[in-house]
Amino acid sequence: MIIEKCSNGLIGETNVPSDKSISHRAIICGALSQGETIVKNILLSKDVLNTINCFRQMGVSIKVDGSNAYIQGVGKYGFKKPKVALDCGNSATTMRLLSGVLVGQDFSTTLIGDNSLMNRPMERIISPLSEMGGNIEGKEGKYPPLEIKPTNKLKGIEYKLPIASAQVKSAILLASLYSSGKTIIIENKITRDHTERMLNYFGEGILIKGNEIIINNGQKFVGKELYIPGDISSAAFLMVAATLVENSHIIIKNVGINPTRDGILEVLKEMGGEIKVFNKRLVNNEPIGDMEIKHSPLKGCVIEGDIIGRLIDELPIIAVLGALAEGKTIIKDAEELRYKETDRIKAMVLELKKMGAEIEELSDGMIINGVKELEAGELNSYGDHRIAMALSIAALKADGKSIIKGHESVNISYPNFYETLDYLLS
Ligand code: S3P
Repeated sequence: MIIEKCSNGLIGETNVPSDKSISHRAIICGALSQGETIVKNILLSKDVLNTINCFRQMGVSIKVDGSNAYIQGVGKYGFKKPKVALDCGNSATTMRLLSGVLVGQDFSTTLIGDNSLMNRPMERIISPLSEMGGNIEGKEGKYPPLEIKPTNKLKGIEYKLPIASAQVKSAILLASLYSSGKTIIIENKITRDHTERMLNYFGEGILIKGNEIIINNGQKFVGKELYIPGDISSAAFLMVAATLVENSHIIIKNVGINPTRDGILEVLKEMGGEIKVFNKRLVNNEPIGDMEIKHSPLKGCVIEGDIIGRLIDELPIIAVLGALAEGKTIIKDAEELRYKETDRIKAMVLELKKMGAEIEELSDGMIINGVKELEAGELNSYGDHRIAMALSIAALKADGKSIIKGHESVNISYPNFYETLDYLLS
């Protein structure tokens, strides 16, 4: 993909693809329910298609018509043993959440993925699921393939999350639907709460008391109709593009603004961004709104501590904001970025350096001294969708023509990313 410096501004109104995290959970809850679930405005990106395919392999009928999915739920115990290993592709959400469901089945399964996923840490779910009595093993105890075997001894646990991870929390919550007794999860740092919201929407009572999530072993839940909002993590690329490129003025409609995901709004405002959220409403337990963003000059800021979990996927694009803001931007407490689809700290530091950014790598983040303009370059996405999109936005502010290698990875979460950019730029 070749991207040139842009001087015209992004103008117009657009939607962004539906939320990836919520789409995964809608399929899982729909499959676990009794009866039909209709998911309107589902994301049909590669990651979500992997979740759909895994459930199809286990005998769940999922029909896709336009942007709606019709899931014929089979109930918690209605799945069939898949004939082959379940391939989660690039999607850690699929692998980790599905593991929570699979430890409760009376058949064995194997979970595999692409090169990136086969090297991502899994002891974080193996450990709590084993503590619950699950029979789950990984290569060297920590990597995929995951081998999951039946057990009839699943029990609720009290578990303090050692790392802030919504995927780990969700795997435990899903396994608790198959466990005897009560499960209590204690989280000391905020992570996205879509699983809690969705389980409650489907009727599975979850109690939230301060930083404790309490779930009693599952009752049956029934199919529902739900609407998936736009993904704030995808919207973030357009928000940043419109903020950075002169003369921009855009509106993004129907974006999820769940308070466990909205750190990007806080950071943009603190850096001097002109962004307004309006028309706020609640749709199937998830807050959504419309956004208006205009170009504005930026100043650096410090991003650390509790906010990290609320913007973890936005840090690559926030690094681009920092690279072009006046003064210093510091990102700390974000070591988790090293365990994403690629090591996102290393990738952003290396690639932004190629573009003339003043950026230094920290073990848990980066320090960036803003410059006025970047230089075009041959840039590597490392096959990571969020790195490809962050570098593409950086290229709009770089003198010359940039080449983004591996740009097709945007299909993981934002299949029409380049078409939307073209539309807003023309
Ligand atoms: C996700 C949780 C986050 C996020 C990922 C999606 C989810 O990871 O980075 O893209 O859908 O639960 P953690 O499990 O590390 O919080």
